[in-house]
Amino acid sequence: MPLVSMRQLLDEAAKGGYGVGAFNVNDMEQIQAIMEAAMETQSPVIIQASRGARAFAQDRYLFHLILAASELYPEIPIAMHQDHGNSFETCKSAIELGFTSVMMDGSLKEDGKTPTSFEENVEVTRKVVEYAHPRGVTVEGEIGVLGGIEDGHGAGGTGLEHVTDPDQAVEFAERTGVDALAIAIGTSHGAYKFTKKPDGSVLKMDLLIEIHNRLPHTHLVMHGSSSVPKELQDIVNEYGGKLKETWGVPVEEIQLGIRNGVRKINVDTDNRLAITGAIRKVLWTQPEKFDPRDYMKPARDAMHKVVAQRMTQFGQAGHAGDYAPIAISEIAKGYADGSLSTQPLIAAK
Ligand code: G3H
Ligand code: 13P
Ligand code: ZN
Repeated sequence: MPLVSMRQLLDEAAKGGYGVGAFNVNDMEQIQAIMEAAMETQSPVIIQASRGARAFAQDRYLFHLILAASELYPEIPIAMHQDHGNSFETCKSAIELGFTSVMMDGSLKEDGKTPTSFEENVEVTRKVVEYAHPRGVTVEGEIGVLGGIEDGHGAGGTGLEHVTDPDQAVEFAERTGVDALAIAIGTSHGAYKFTKKPDGSVLKMDLLIEIHNRLPHTHLVMHGSSSVPKELQDIVNEYGGKLKETWGVPVEEIQLGIRNGVRKINVDTDNRLAITGAIRKVLWTQPEKFDPRDYMKPARDAMHKVVAQRMTQFGQAGHAGDYAPIAISEIAKGYADGSLSTQPLIAAK
C-alpha cells in the first residue's frame, strides 16, 4: 500500500471511534517493531520522525526504510509524519522528502524552547497549511505548550505552565485550518511526567473534554502519552539502570481521551524504555556477548510487545482493512474543492 494521508487515517478513526498510536522512530529496528505489531494486530499506523531522528538517521535512510515498510506490508495503512516541526522550512523539507503529514509546532519558537505568542503560532501554522494542503499533506498544529525537554526540544517545566485555553483552541483551529490539533493538558515529554499517579490536579482531562465539546469534529492529539509502566522501569533498573521513580499517563485516561475526540496518541518514551531494558538485560546477564543481533533482536521484540499492546488499548487493532487508501493527489483535490473540510464545527459555549 502506498503511504497514506494522516487525514484519511484520522477521519477513519473518528468514524470508528478509536485512536491511532503515533510511534517515534530513529532506526530500522524500531520501524520493524512497529510493523510487526501492526501486522499482528491488523492496525493502521502513524510512524513519526522528529528533527533529531531525521538528523540521526539521515533523511533518505529514514524515508526509504518507511517506504520499505509500506512495500513489505501492503495491507497496512501507514502515514509518515514529521513530529514537532520547528519551522516552515522543516515542514517544507519533510514534504519534499515524501512525508504524508507534518506537525508545525508553532507553540514554540524555532529554537524549540521559547513559547511563542498566539499570533506567531497562527501565522506560521497557517503558512504550513497553505503549503501542505495543495500537496495533499496533512497538518497538525499545537496550541498550549507541553512540559519537559527531549533532545533539546521543549519548554521544560511541569506541563501545567501553559495548558491550552479553550477559546484560543477554537480560534486557532478556525484561523489555521489544521487537520489535527495537539493540546496541552499537563503532560510532558520524556519519562519524568508525574511524581505520583496523576489525578485531575495535574492531568487536565476536564480541559480536554471542554475543548472537545467546543470543537466536536476536530481530531485532537495527545503528546507526551507514554504510560511509563513500572514493569519497564524495573527491568532497566534491575540491570544496572538508574531511573528515578516516576509516573506516566495511565492508559485509562488516554482511553477517556479517545472517547472525547483524541485520535492521535504520541508514544516514544515507553518504547525507549523497552529497548533499553532489553539491551541492558542481555549485556548485564551475558557479558560475553558482542554480536549486536544478540541484543538488538530482544530490543526489537520488546518494542513490538509494547506497540502491539498500545494498538489494542487505543482501539486501532483490527481496522487496517477497513478502507482503501486515497491517493495523495486526490486528497489535494479534496482540500481544493472543499470536500475535505478545514473549518472546524464550533459548538456554542
Ligand atoms: O517529542 C519528542 C519525541 O519523543 C522525540 O524525541 O526529539 O529526542 O527525537 P527526540
Ligand atoms: P512521550 O515522551 O510521552 O513518549 O511522548 C512522545 C511525544 O509526544 C512525541 O511527540
Ligand atoms: Zn510530542
